[in-house]
Amino acid sequence: MPTWKREDAAELSSESVEALIRNEIPAVRISGFASAEECAAFTNAVYNSPDLKSYSVETPTHYLGLVMYEYRQGGGRKAEFFDAAPAAVAAQQKLYDQSFDVPSRFREMLGPYYDGPIVVPIEPGYGSYCPVVVRIASNGVHLHADFAPYNSPGWEIGAIEAQITWNLYTQCPSVGGQTTVYNAPWTPAEDDDPARGLPDSTVESDPTVQSFTFAPNVGEIVLFNPRNPHKIAAGSASEGRVSIGSFLGVNANNDLLMWS
Ligand SMILES: [Fe+2]
Repeated sequence: MPTWKREDAAELSSESVEALIRNEIPAVRISGFASAEECAAFTNAVYNSPDLKSYSVETPTHYLGLVMYEYRQGGGRKAEFFDAAPAAVAAQQKLYDQSFDVPSRFREMLGPYYDGPIVVPIEPGYGSYCPVVVRIASNGVHLHADFAPYNSPGWEIGAIEAQITWNLYTQCPSVGGQTTVYNAPWTPAEDDDPARGLPDSTVESDPTVQSFTFAPNVGEIVLFNPRNPHKIAAGSASEGRVSIGSFLGVNANNDLLMWS
C-alpha cells in the first residue's frame, strides 16, 4: 500500500496541488473560500431550484447539474449526456445569479497554483462537458472510487493520467457528514463493472491502509484524490449537506480538465 507523506491536510500551494495529484498527501483544505452569507444564499437557491434530480443509487442523493455516473453505465449514453449539458449549465447559472459564480471563483483561485490551463473538456463530435455538479448528500454516500481511465474509457476524460476532486461546502450537518478517504488507489476487480466504481471494501478495516477523515466547514473547499476509495457518513436527518464541485484530471498536455 502507498504511504502519504503526512497524515493531515495541507494548505493550498503549488506543491500541495502537485502532491495531491501524485497521491502523496491526503487532502488540501481551503478555509474561507466563501462567506457564510454567500453560502446561505447558494444553499437556499439549491433547495428552491426546480432542477434537482436524484441519483439511481439506493441512498437518496439529489444533485443539480449533470453527472457522468448516470450516463456511463451500461455502455454509455454519450449523445444524451452532451445533449443535456447546456440545460444543466443553465440551471446552475440560476444558482450563481442568486449567490455567486462558484466555478469562476474557484478557477481564478486555483489558476496560480497549477502549471497549466484549467479547461472544461470537449468531447469531439458531441460538445462540452458540464464543469461542476451540486449535491445534497444528507444521507451519506457509499464507499466508491472515481478514476476516469477505468470508469469512462472511450470518453475524452478517460485519457487523463491523474484525477483529483474539489468541493465547496455550503451547508454542513452538525453531526455526521464526514468524508473518509482510504489510501488504496482503486484498480477494478476483473469480474466487476468499472462504471460502478466499487472498490474492495476491505480497505475500511485493513490496518495497513491509511485513512483520512474530515468534517467539512461551511465556506470551505476540500480537495482529495478520488481514485482512493471514499465515503460520506450520513448526517442527522433534519440537517442538509450541500456541496458543489467537480473532478480535475491531468491530461497528457498537462491541462487540468474540469468535469462532473
Ligand atoms: Fe466520489
